[in-house]
Amino acid sequence: MKFLKLTACIALAALAVLLLGLNTWGYFALGKLAPDPAAARDTGANEVVMVFGATGRAGGGLVVAAVEDPRVQRVYVVTRRTIPLLEELAASGKLEVRLHQDFTDYSDLADILPQVNTVLWALGTSSLQVDEATYTRIHVDFPLAFVEAWLAARQEAPMAFHFIAGMGTDGDAAWARDKRHTESETARLAAGTGLRSFSYRSAYIRPADQQSNLLHHLLQAVLAPGSLAMSSRDLGRAMLEISARSNELPNGTLIDAADSIAYARAYGDTTAE
Ligand SMILES: NC(=O)c1ccc[n+]([C@@H]2O[C@H](COP(=O)([O-])OP(=O)(O)OC[C@H]3O[C@@H](n4cnc5c(N)ncnc54)[C@H](OP(=O)(O)O)[C@@H]3O)[C@@H](O)[C@H]2O)c1
Repeated sequence: MKFLKLTACIALAALAVLLLGLNTWGYFALGKLAPDPAAARDTGANEVVMVFGATGRAGGGLVVAAVEDPRVQRVYVVTRRTIPLLEELAASGKLEVRLHQDFTDYSDLADILPQVNTVLWALGTSSLQVDEATYTRIHVDFPLAFVEAWLAARQEAPMAFHFIAGMGTDGDAAWARDKRHTESETARLAAGTGLRSFSYRSAYIRPADQQSNLLHHLLQAVLAPGSLAMSSRDLGRAMLEISARSNELPNGTLIDAADSIAYARAYGDTTAE
């Protein structure tokens, strides 16, 4: 019994030290971008928003943010299945779910791609869940095929592509190389067109309120001091804000976890989550 208690105390102390280290690092190392307090906003920059990965932990709140934004007139969710959150949000009349199976071919979206201003891309998975070739297909082939199809349909600003890469994308692992490749290729494809491409090197993204439990909130709270956590709804708000500031961040900007918190604050009221 005594041994068990001692082991539990050591484990708790190690966790506390780890959290302290992570938060201290985040506090000092993150946050390179400062939203301009006097920025002009293009009110038409988010008129039509398209969301990928909306059934996932990171993507659900992006859809919530888009549906809630009064400047967004239409939200298209492109997904291989629907979930109750999307059915609920569809009641707003703003959201349309487009069931889609082949994420390397977007010809069935030809009717709507020319209207789309902003794309929020949260489609992805863990490198622990799929082999390397499948990981590349999902995180490189899918988004690049989409950006190519979108640019073939439209090149006129305002257009913004927001890709969630994740913290650690600067590392040596195969998954990080794939995500870096997507970051640089989307920026390359966008160069010289009306499109700006952004990559979010986010830490923990808490699912939307409707999909969160106590543990999700607890994790967000313990990682908050180092700007290592935010809700997916606030991340969506940050993306919409960056789209709207059409003259602020250039194509290819990398946005770290603290930067996206700063842009979510700039969006306005972030106290609801
Ligand atoms: N969650 C975080 O805290 C966090 C932090 C940093 C970065 N990220 C990155 O954000 C991305 C999404 O993460 P997540 O946590 O939201 O994952 P998730 O909860 O597993 O959701 C993944 C989303 O991608 C879709 N998807 C996955 N594989 C697909 C495929 N082969 N074809 C079509 N759709 C597919 C899923 O659709 P189905 O529902 O149909 O499977 C779902 O909508 C990943 O790249 C991840 O690395 C997440």
